[in-house]
Amino acid sequence: MNLHVIVPVNYNDPSRKSRRARRAARGSIVVEFRTFRNTDTPRLVAVWNETFTQRGTPRLVNNTTLERYVLAKPIFDPKGLTVAVADGKLVGWAHAGMSRHPFNTQPIGVICLVGVRPALRRQGIGSELLKRSEQYLRERGAQKLQAGGHWPNNPFYMGLYGGCESPGFLQSDASAEPFFVKHGYCVEQKVQVLQRKLDQPMKMFDPRFVPIRGRFDMVFGPPRHLLDAWQELVHGWVDPLQFVLKDKQSGGWVARTLVWEMDAFSFYWQRPTVGIFDFEVNAPYRKAGVGRYFLSLIMKYIQEQFFTLAEIQLEDTNGPGLDFLRSLDFEHVDTGQVFVRSV
Ligand SMILES: CC(C)(COP(=O)(O)OP(=O)(O)OC[C@H]1O[C@@H](n2cnc3c(N)ncnc32)[C@H](O)[C@@H]1OP(=O)(O)O)[C@@H](O)C(=O)NCCC(=O)NCCS
Repeated sequence: MNLHVIVPVNYNDPSRKSRRARRAARGSIVVEFRTFRNTDTPRLVAVWNETFTQRGTPRLVNNTTLERYVLAKPIFDPKGLTVAVADGKLVGWAHAGMSRHPFNTQPIGVICLVGVRPALRRQGIGSELLKRSEQYLRERGAQKLQAGGHWPNNPFYMGLYGGCESPGFLQSDASAEPFFVKHGYCVEQKVQVLQRKLDQPMKMFDPRFVPIRGRFDMVFGPPRHLLDAWQELVHGWVDPLQFVLKDKQSGGWVARTLVWEMDAFSFYWQRPTVGIFDFEVNAPYRKAGVGRYFLSLIMKYIQEQFFTLAEIQLEDTNGPGLDFLRSLDFEHVDTGQVFVRSV
């Protein structure tokens, strides 16, 4: 068992006038750091609900969602989840995991989440949790550290943090950026979170749709398989449906995407919501209005199923993609940031 002690400070000692020292002077706390135990789950849920209060993190009503998207995954390693305990109570946790994406050119370790109960923030607990998580990743061979999961380096929390995909850490979680910057990380990527309300009229008309309508058919169902075993582990857990636009004559695919019901977020936002990701138009069919037709068709379909919100995430650098979504009345609601540092 490891003990981390924040020692009381002599408030009158002129050599100790830092903010941290003054805070510590108000009272000493003893914090124990250890790795996850099975009995911790309800306490993790309690800390989650007190810690993550912004738009990108649904409230958890029981253990099930955390178990489903994190603890039940075969890649979950209890040693990667560090908890902080003070006075017998769990006060914070951090979770780290290695990315096993087969095409990474170097081993990437991911800090998937860090959270400290509000009453105990700015006392070094988050820093110690981060330090231990980084150490865990180094011991597993990480040559690059990434804070905030983003495909393909998002082993956990797809479905539970960030929205329809893993966008890194959201700007709406305002403490994330100063915290990681303080620890030597810099922003490598920004991801825009875009949403379209479906309980408002949808402009479906585009003259280019007329010939498209006759040539293509939309079908959907559970995908037979995803890209590879890693995508099954990351995205398979949200049980997506695959929508495919098919060429009636050749039977070949024209456009395709994955769509899932964002159950935890729907409940939190009080809006039945679907997430759309991996949206792709087959190269020979691009620049002819096919993407617009396909996305409009999907939105029309999900609107008929009484969903009232659709979400898509797109990297900040994808200008044409962002213009395309804006033209379909998607609105920017948040931005995710992926932080990196060398080991
Ligand atoms: C981010 C978080 C885990 C930091 O935990 P913490 O125990 O408060 O962190 P520390 O006390 O170790 O802070 C270390 C340094 O990070 C920086 N920092 C942390 N929180 C900050 C904030 N809200 N604003 C500005 N700087 C901050 C400071 O430089 C701080 O040093 P200082 O207190 O000497 O100025 C905590 O604020 C939190 O739980 N936030 C909500 C959850 C969240 O957004 N997590 C990140 C995304 S998953």
